[in-house]
Amino acid sequence: MPSSFCLRPPDARLLEGRRALVTGGDSGIGQGICYELAAHGASVAINYVGAPDEAQRMAQEIHAAGGKALAVQMDVSSEQDVARAFGEAQSAFGCVDLLVNNAGIEQRYPLVDMPLAAWQKVIDVNLTGVFLCAREAARLMRTARCGGAIINISSVHEQIAWERFSHYCASKGGMRMFTQSIAKELAPLGIRVINVAPGAIATPINRDVLADPAKSGKVQREIPLGRWGEVTDIAQAVAWLASEQASYVTGATLFVDGGMTLYPRFV
Ligand code: BGC
Repeated sequence: MPSSFCLRPPDARLLEGRRALVTGGDSGIGQGICYELAAHGASVAINYVGAPDEAQRMAQEIHAAGGKALAVQMDVSSEQDVARAFGEAQSAFGCVDLLVNNAGIEQRYPLVDMPLAAWQKVIDVNLTGVFLCAREAARLMRTARCGGAIINISSVHEQIAWERFSHYCASKGGMRMFTQSIAKELAPLGIRVINVAPGAIATPINRDVLADPAKSGKVQREIPLGRWGEVTDIAQAVAWLASEQASYVTGATLFVDGGMTLYPRFV
């Protein structure tokens, strides 16, 4: 998805000098977050897991416009990959003081048909990946004594039950308590930990629903603000939460969902 990336004017940049790593940064919400952080002056390590093409294209585009970015390969559920990728970001930028745990997957299965492998894959990527990356980032920030922020892209489904996605809900509910626990633990190191919980956002993960007007309209009726969210709705919230303007926010979840968590269906 080519964008028209440009840096914000110097006095409007919230993240000048920050060093970020965004997991799953080459598509969907992660891609928008990479562009937004870079536009605010952060150096951004754009993580991809498969083909490097899109992450490399984004890095070149950001570079060409005067920003700083780097493509880094990593499967977030692999301890070795995580250590290597954070090492690459550290070598390039000097440190990592902002981690955005965005990588996530979902796959529909009724409980009675769910293979163990499907359960494990979702937990590995959505929850174990968050643990591995948060641990690595916290270690780097502790050593550098630089403080920083860890922002986890959760979901409205850290709160709203979702039938046929019990593994996904378990991962996001787990993320909520993981965030709160490590927020307490890392506060003395000056490291803030926050969840951003998107609702229905127009991204490739929702390709099938968006392509079907009946299904897409049904989702839209569950959103009090009456529209699907855009990637920029999430990206702008992340940039603000990562910035000094949010320096008193930790352990919280910010729902960016058009009001979806207000359960309009039950009104
Ligand atoms: C899921 C989307 C879904 C949304 C609202 C998100 O966490 O990734 O597929 O549309 O929640 O249900």
